[in-house]
Amino acid sequence: MKNILVSGWTAAALLCGVMVSCTPVAVGDLNVIPQPLHVVQDREAQPFVITPSTKIVCAADNAKLVRTAQFLSSYVKEVTGLEPEVVARADVRAIRLAVDSTLANREAYRLRIDADGVELSGGSESGVFYGVQTLFKSLPVTLDTGERPALPAGEVSDSPRFAYRGFMLDVGRHFFSVDYVKQVIDMLALHNINHFHWHLTEDQGWRIEILKYPRLTEVGSVRPRSMTSWKPEYDNVECRGYYTQEQAREIVDYAAERFITVIPEIDLPGHMMAALASYPELGCTGGPYEVPCEWGVFKEVLCGGNDKALQFARDVLEEVMDIFPSEYIHIGGDECPKERWKACPKCQAKIRRLGLKATPDHSREEQLQRYFMSEVAHTIAARGRKMLGWDEMLHGGLPENSTVMAWTRPDAAVSVARLRHNCILAPYQYFYFSNPHFNKIKGLKSLQRVYEFEPVSEQLTPEEQSHIIGAQACLWTEWTADSLKVEWQILPRMSSLAEVQWSTPENRDFDSYVERLPALLEIYNRRGYDFRKDIYDVMIQPEADTVGGVLRVGLSTFGKADIRYTLDGSQPDGGSLRYTAPIAIDRATDLKAVAVRDGRRSEVSEERFARHLASFRPLSLTHAPHKDYRAQLGRTLTDGCFGTSNYRDGRWVGCRGTDLQAVVDLGEKTRFSKVWVSTLINTNDDIFPAAGLVVETSDDGLRFTEVARKPLPAPASVTVELRREEVTFPTVSARYVRITAQVMNDIPDLKTVKPEKAFVFADEVGVE
Ligand code: ACM
Ligand code: ZN
Repeated sequence: MKNILVSGWTAAALLCGVMVSCTPVAVGDLNVIPQPLHVVQDREAQPFVITPSTKIVCAADNAKLVRTAQFLSSYVKEVTGLEPEVVARADVRAIRLAVDSTLANREAYRLRIDADGVELSGGSESGVFYGVQTLFKSLPVTLDTGERPALPAGEVSDSPRFAYRGFMLDVGRHFFSVDYVKQVIDMLALHNINHFHWHLTEDQGWRIEILKYPRLTEVGSVRPRSMTSWKPEYDNVECRGYYTQEQAREIVDYAAERFITVIPEIDLPGHMMAALASYPELGCTGGPYEVPCEWGVFKEVLCGGNDKALQFARDVLEEVMDIFPSEYIHIGGDECPKERWKACPKCQAKIRRLGLKATPDHSREEQLQRYFMSEVAHTIAARGRKMLGWDEMLHGGLPENSTVMAWTRPDAAVSVARLRHNCILAPYQYFYFSNPHFNKIKGLKSLQRVYEFEPVSEQLTPEEQSHIIGAQACLWTEWTADSLKVEWQILPRMSSLAEVQWSTPENRDFDSYVERLPALLEIYNRRGYDFRKDIYDVMIQPEADTVGGVLRVGLSTFGKADIRYTLDGSQPDGGSLRYTAPIAIDRATDLKAVAVRDGRRSEVSEERFARHLASFRPLSLTHAPHKDYRAQLGRTLTDGCFGTSNYRDGRWVGCRGTDLQAVVDLGEKTRFSKVWVSTLINTNDDIFPAAGLVVETSDDGLRFTEVARKPLPAPASVTVELRREEVTFPTVSARYVRITAQVMNDIPDLKTVKPEKAFVFADEVGVE
């Protein structure tokens, strides 16, 4: 249902003198983030004004409800300065909280507001808690305004779309204090998130005290320095820290008060270097091992054939389950290279004993991992808990009763749901807030990227869809050592996520969300959260008009602001061209734009557009690109737009194991002497430089003659960069040009896991 908004009370009240005192009243808005299911506001009716005598009423014998009422009181204070008293009974106008088990589900709530009071009932105490969050976010911030705060008359009835609404924090790569973890939990509560996935162990740090294995924290929670760039560079600052079991219980209790379940993750059998450094006998080779100071995926993992390693996993999980009462226990299962297992006598003996045979889908070693995970799952099931793991679990076949967190690609969730296993969507392309490429998406686009992801695939039947139980964002902390960076990455994207997790698809609308966002940013500001400010910058959205042969570039920004721009690379200011409609671009252009609000300029947004002889000319690709990097079957290669270092931005064509070869029809015999290819290199993700460029020409599009060839060097170290490769030659005249960026077949050994095939990537091919 659409929200019905009857506006006008405030204006009417101000004009007609309806107010109880002459202090002006500020009325909030019930349309908060996440958008509730049904909202009816009556702005003609008198609102509920909060005064110093306003009380919050709830049953004194319900401790959870009393605590929730205290939260409401503190929230009201946060934004209005008034701190309503929590009482068991009140005759005066009050906010009344109660449980009504007839509501749709435990997390559902209903709010009724009129001038005489607020009635909030929840399907359980958690429902009341979410109603309290909505009340909080509906309040106007009146602390510094001298106005009296009021809630609009109206009704809300609300219920979450997904039962599982999660957020993950990696404390393995960098350690965060108990106090800061609590602050993160406060952020989750504000966004109606109900699961805190606590990634407690990593190669680079073991962070949870295990009484039976004290060296895990004595040795495994310390490393002498951290990598600060892939060059590599290091900070030479020791990174250490772990949570005692008592501290972990404190976090569990803190979260539980906010109706958040803490799910611990012990990542097995990969990502275990810190454990191996502590107990080398758990690895295939016996070590020695060190807690690594570099990031990446390491070939050293727990030995899959050693019963001691399995016992270790069971012992650790027994203690973990003593601390964490959560239904789900996450045991990782991701990124576990099988190199060591293939060569390990113990692993191979185990494979033989278990009679594991390779199948077309699963190697013997993958099945050994399934065996290992299933054995651990028995330990979890014996305590009445459920196993949760990353989607690599699919590789060896899913252990019984396991729930999967799909991170590698949204399709993984389709496979899981079809196997009738429950699945949570955490695709790194949308919900990894730490993804450095993704972090380069600026402004509102960074929010849109999260907001527009739909977790439930249309490929699934309704019955299969019921296995998609939720969505989660993750913050990995390789490059994140402090709260500033944590908050910059997660806020306000967490609010986009919240709407995906909570609101129905019918109620999800990006423009409406952007309009509701300023009220939430007020709360961020009041709390001092270091949220990302580039949402205030200008968003540049080019669209290729292939018929007209031009780019049409739209500019937009957050809230109301004047947009000014230049096309010659100069800095825009208040006197530059004012944006009114999409700009047609038919030449090489360096567009810069700013938003001007109250005389203040935002940061400059910039995008360069190319123009050359192949611009908007028909183009065909000889080899099909990889299905994830098709870029409209290569049409982006001549549209003048460049991709970002986020190679999933839709502008990159990527071929794996084959050359990237494009044939361009220039329309008529044309003279040219240079060809360039704009490429991306990210050897961490198997994207290598082109091995060489080849240029061929033809007059009939069938028989080609080579005019230039240029071999290119292989990288000597890990490389992440955007690079333009070009080749020049004596002027030729031809109608067709065939441009080949050769894939690197001789892949250099740069990291522990060398890919079998390299990618070659391009976003534009130029002819001049
Ligand atoms: C993961 O990102 N390796 C789960
Ligand atoms: Zn082994």
